[in-house]
Amino acid sequence: MAMLLETARRVVIVPGYGLAVSQAQHAVRELATLLESKGATVEFGIHPVAGRMPGHMNVLLAEADVPYDKLKEMDEINPTFGQVDVVLVIGANDVVNPLANTDPSSPIAGMPILEVGNARSVIVMKRSLSPGFAGIPNPLFAADNCLMYFGDGKAAVQALVAAVKEG
Ligand code: TAP
Repeated sequence: MAMLLETARRVVIVPGYGLAVSQAQHAVRELATLLESKGATVEFGIHPVAGRMPGHMNVLLAEADVPYDKLKEMDEINPTFGQVDVVLVIGANDVVNPLANTDPSSPIAGMPILEVGNARSVIVMKRSLSPGFAGIPNPLFAADNCLMYFGDGKAAVQALVAAVKEG
């Protein structure tokens, strides 16, 4: 995974509720800065209902001094995922669940999602395959271009930072 990130030119980080739970915002900022120092462009894809309150992700990332111009709203970033090398999904689930588009009986049917599956590779960091707020499975996790990285959000990001530094 560290190698995937080291060679990536364009990286998008998608934060969700698990980022807030694990308080991973400072570690995420460190990872973004590290990847930028290796020549990557790093942006954040912000879903309007990511987390548990309006603006939840923006507040956390601002606390960690992530520059505001790196936060991209869903409508802006969605058409660009086809040109993204790696999407790093950190503690998000429902907001990247393609069932919203494909299963009309799903509780999230019709909710616009961040279309991360269109990127070349997706890395999902969470503790398990447990569902999010909506209580439904996420077929993204089984997609051919998706790697699961199980662990607490903050600890997993810190481990990735260490691995990229070593590499
Ligand atoms: P969710 O779909 O709720 O998924 C969050 C994921 O975070 C979980 O699957 C969980 O998986 C993971 N997680 C929990 N603790 C973690 C930790 N310590 N480290 C790493 N991962 C952890 O989150 P989302 O994608 O942000 O979507 C938000 C949901 O909340 C939507 O359904 C939305 O409608 C709803 N909601 C939003 C709001 C507002 S205004 N934002 C208000 C009410 C409801 P593991 O257990 O496997 O780690």
